[in-house]
Amino acid sequence: MLIDILILIMAYLLGSFNSAVVISHVMGFTDPRTQGSGNPGATNVLRLGGTKAAIVTLLLDISKGVIAVGVALLLNLSTVSIALVGFTVFIGHLFPLFFHFKGGKGVATAFGVIVMFNSLAGLTTLATWLLVAVISRYSSLSALIAGTLAPLYLYLWHAPVAYWATDILISLLLIWRHRSNIHKLLNGQESKIGAKKSADV
Ligand code: G3P
Repeated sequence: MLIDILILIMAYLLGSFNSAVVISHVMGFTDPRTQGSGNPGATNVLRLGGTKAAIVTLLLDISKGVIAVGVALLLNLSTVSIALVGFTVFIGHLFPLFFHFKGGKGVATAFGVIVMFNSLAGLTTLATWLLVAVISRYSSLSALIAGTLAPLYLYLWHAPVAYWATDILISLLLIWRHRSNIHKLLNGQESKIGAKKSADV
């Protein structure tokens, strides 16, 4: 029980590390919270800092989910505890302790969690994201569709109920965090992948 609590705290702190903000300072480009979409995530880093910075941000954010759930799996925690760890690292990304509780949308970190919950569900979620991205060139739409389908993929790939039930919560939060993107998509104002920057925040 104590170990579960310690891992949950670790997961929250790990999730609270905002890669986009740190990378923008290290690589010397505009803080993504102040320009573009205002979201501290890989998509906005791509607009403001370029491909290399975006890839580093993406990999760091994915690795938060992978590390947190990976540690819980290695320690052989119960399925419910592992699911909670996945949810907690995601919550850390959305509401980070180190950044006044104002974090990102959680797409990459959620992906890291899903791939550790079930690798086949992770692969099909990634394939969905890529397919929608290639067709539409909207990062947000890709995240919304892949994120919504991810719990179904976990279910279909026979992941434990605790995993797909947790991922339903993650998906609902993802959709909620993308409400400004949904608005822009509906109004035809969303910027496409590769566009330099959307309207300033
Ligand atoms: O992963 C975040 C993405 O879905 C949307 O990012 O910067 O366009 O709001 P952004």
